[in-house]
Amino acid sequence: MRMGTTEVMTEDDYMDAEEPPSMDSLPVIGNLPAMSDSPFEFSERLPESRGVVRVRLAPIDLPMMLSDLYYVNGPEAIRQVLVDDHASYRKPDFTKQMFADLAPNGLFVAEGDQWRRIREVVQPAFRARSVQRYADAMVTETVRRIGEWDDGEPLAIADEARAITSAILGRALFSSDFTAIADSLRSVVDAMGAKLDIPAGAVPMWVPTRTNRRFERDVREFERVAADLVRKRRRVGADERPNDLLSALIAATENGSLSPTELRDQLFISLLAGHETTSLALTFACFHLAAHSERCERLYAEIDALDGDPSIGTLGEVPASEYIAKEALRLYPPSIEVARESTDDVELQGYRIPEGAGMILPVYSVHRDERWWDEPESFRPERWEEEDVPNHEYAYFPFGGGPRACIGNRFATLELRLVLATIARRYRLDLAPGQSADLDLRMTPTPAPAEPIGLIARER
Ligand code: HEM
Repeated sequence: MRMGTTEVMTEDDYMDAEEPPSMDSLPVIGNLPAMSDSPFEFSERLPESRGVVRVRLAPIDLPMMLSDLYYVNGPEAIRQVLVDDHASYRKPDFTKQMFADLAPNGLFVAEGDQWRRIREVVQPAFRARSVQRYADAMVTETVRRIGEWDDGEPLAIADEARAITSAILGRALFSSDFTAIADSLRSVVDAMGAKLDIPAGAVPMWVPTRTNRRFERDVREFERVAADLVRKRRRVGADERPNDLLSALIAATENGSLSPTELRDQLFISLLAGHETTSLALTFACFHLAAHSERCERLYAEIDALDGDPSIGTLGEVPASEYIAKEALRLYPPSIEVARESTDDVELQGYRIPEGAGMILPVYSVHRDERWWDEPESFRPERWEEEDVPNHEYAYFPFGGGPRACIGNRFATLELRLVLATIARRYRLDLAPGQSADLDLRMTPTPAPAEPIGLIARER
């Protein structure tokens, strides 16, 4: 048994710890309807606690798991789960099930020795020095795409963001042109969203429903695309290969560190995790540029003072790009929550959590919690400059934390900053007529705008 700061805990310590406060369950059906209908409002109704609340999914205790979930919504408790006591928590079964038909050996869900081995293979492509090498591709691919924008014409910004981020992913990590791959990538992400839609998506894969058939078809097509990337790269001699993620993965299969199945699953995870999250983050950041242009003036002033497009060498002179990116990730974090499961009976902030408990760390609502943030609902990039930000590190965790933190954190942050600065050098963004400055979100695996966001780019 474990307790805070990884001390071993006795049976008595565990029994002495308090029960966390409970969220009142609704008669008969527990909290499940409230959680799935409106997860955002739901987390705002949670009772006061030291950051841990037991949420009853069923009105009575069931002998099996998942009659309860624990909401971990205080920064201290979040740090305890992700960092201090990370060894007492693992990725939960419901996350693993999500990836079971897609990439069961992917870094995102792997555990223990397998996770360590794969992380070692993948890590070099995401180190600070490697990521800096990708900066030119990030700017070039953005310039290419936004060069096609028509002055004053409406833009479907989510499509633009997807095109830009998939082109960057292709160039940076795979040294490849992803134009032809983008559609397949999109289909798999959509099919995965449909699989998460309850009840249609919950039907086991061996039942040939429409959703399952579509999922299978899209995954097969994506598999072909991934295999093609590998085949082409293998034809290049080991010394001639570009220094990128794809070469690192292939080299690891050649020296026996990765099996062919693990290679396939890492390709899937890098393409999916690296694409959908960054394109959403960019969509939301562009939306903020348009909806709150008065708060983004500094970006235009800083970029105008540069001699040419931003680069890794000059980005330091455009700090507003960092503040806007951070604030966009605060208000609309593409990973709306991080999930864990306790591996043992554990103590968390003086509360007792039984072995096998499902835990939700609700990124979205912690980022908007007025206990940690002034004017939490307002887009105020300047808060990052004024350091008017919470003094607790884990009141902000768009990339998770601890050993399982996002491997693409640096990549995604640099990309967001460079793309925003490159856009701002050429265009001002406005809301298209009829586009509201208030966004409705829809829950897919990630929080997506319920309606396409319409913007207008005006040449500067
Ligand atoms: C704005 C963009 C991104 C956001 C918000 C984001 C968010 C996250 C979060 C919250 C986690 C932790 C999940 C957990 O602890 O359960 C994570 C893990 C991960 N992310 Fe990202 N991510 C982004 C971009 C990327 C990119 C660009 C890549 C790769 C190309 C990537 C690949 C991964 C992988 C492989 C993991 C699993 C790491 C591990 O468990 O060792 N992500 N991401």
